Amino acid sequence: MSGSREPIGVIGTGYVGLVTAAGFAELGNDVRCIDIDEAKIEGLQQGRIPIWEPGLEDLVAHHRARMHFSTNIADALEHTRLLFVAVGTPPTYSGDADLSAVHAVVDAMPASDRHALVMKSTVPVGTGDSIKRAFAERGKGGFRYVSCPEFLKEGSAVKDFLEPDRVVVGDDGDWAGDAVVELYSPLDAPLVRTDIRSAEMVKLASNAFLATKISFINEIANVCEETGADVIEVARGMGLDDRIGPKFLQAGIGFGGSCFPKDVAALKQLAGNSGYHFQLLNSVIEVNELQKRRVMSKLQKYLGSLVGKEIALLGLAFKPNTDDMREASSLVLSARLQAAGANVRAYDPVAEHEARKLIRGVEFAGSAAEAIEGADAIVLVTEWPEFADLDFGDVATAMRGTLVVDGRNFLDREGVAAAGLSYEGIGRPAATRTPAPVAQFGGE
Ligand SMILES: NC(=O)c1ccc[n+]([C@@H]2O[C@H](COP(=O)([O-])OP(=O)(O)OC[C@H]3O[C@@H](n4cnc5c(N)ncnc54)[C@H](O)[C@@H]3O)[C@@H](O)[C@H]2O)c1
Repeated sequence: MSGSREPIGVIGTGYVGLVTAAGFAELGNDVRCIDIDEAKIEGLQQGRIPIWEPGLEDLVAHHRARMHFSTNIADALEHTRLLFVAVGTPPTYSGDADLSAVHAVVDAMPASDRHALVMKSTVPVGTGDSIKRAFAERGKGGFRYVSCPEFLKEGSAVKDFLEPDRVVVGDDGDWAGDAVVELYSPLDAPLVRTDIRSAEMVKLASNAFLATKISFINEIANVCEETGADVIEVARGMGLDDRIGPKFLQAGIGFGGSCFPKDVAALKQLAGNSGYHFQLLNSVIEVNELQKRRVMSKLQKYLGSLVGKEIALLGLAFKPNTDDMREASSLVLSARLQAAGANVRAYDPVAEHEARKLIRGVEFAGSAAEAIEGADAIVLVTEWPEFADLDFGDVATAMRGTLVVDGRNFLDREGVAAAGLSYEGIGRPAATRTPAPVAQFGGE
């Protein structure tokens, strides 16, 4: 692409920052990447990518000449006018977003009429206004502010950057908003240009809606279990209605990750702090917490007491194609299993390194086969593609028991049953019949 594209700064080189930086480098922008983590920056300078994200390593390697890594924010201030902020905003104990990293960045900004902060981090509605107020009070009123929330999904983040469903730009209608719109223009995505508060709310409301969809289908799954319906069939039938759509209707053992749990909690808190009780979100959160624990009752139904039982966990990351363990269902599950006296052996194709930092007392296996050996029960926690290839004849031979709990309704239910194993999905009866495909009536 042309060399005339505007150089930009990206502050924070985590999942969002590094993908944003590499994505803009792909579009032809020179990118100054800043992080306070010296080890991370040193690694990046030597070409080491700190996270597991498909396609990212190649993209960074390809655009090495356009990507500059430093711990010194002056480097970005000197070479760029637009500073994308992609620092973490983790939850506090109250559920409010912890904005200390955002404030550290704001505090580090000098008085300037030629710079703008472009907020990619997910922040409560009103954050932009309070940052603008802080700038004004400190004689830095010339500093511009743009809200540009990020919607990428870990596991497909590079593709999501390059092919976004939409770009949302919330600003005051000045040069900075125009410049951000211009930066994204090669992507040819639908643009929502709006005020800062609305842009901030688009992000929180989108994640809260998706989380609501998941908790809704999980509750339907639980009712399916009581009534003999199959949630897979139900979701298929619902999803063909284009007012509903098929996405985020996969029942399972709850949502996790670095965004949904914290953003739902943050929106609930934001509403509460503003005097509004967001009743629906309370239920979304509660259903999700209970859903993570449902595996326990399924195991106990077959095995009785779990004391001394060998349980194999397949997958630990909060979803496939990432090594992110933040708020993963496996954290709750492994702790509950151990509290109930079970011995837990776990395998994840890429998340073991991250998992070791957060999970205690679990034995880590180097392969699915190793995790399964001698197990009384298997629990599929993360639907990594490689688990679809398990040979259940071999699995049945290797196990001591016969129970397979499919926490993501991902495994071949009939294949499991044909190997003489007991299949327990989420919201599904045991394998007894082959459902008629919808396709015969005109198809999906
Ligand atoms: N991860 C996602 O899928 C995703 C998607 C959309 C939005 N978001 C939002 O984007 C933001 C970043 O998320 P993430 O997952 O990339 O976080 P992350 O924890 O992976 O990365 C944050 C980075 O910021 C750095 N940092 C912290 N304080 C800093 C400072 N003062 N100066 C420079 N660097 C600093 C950290 O060292 C870290 O490398 C969050 O607000 C998150 O909610 C995340």
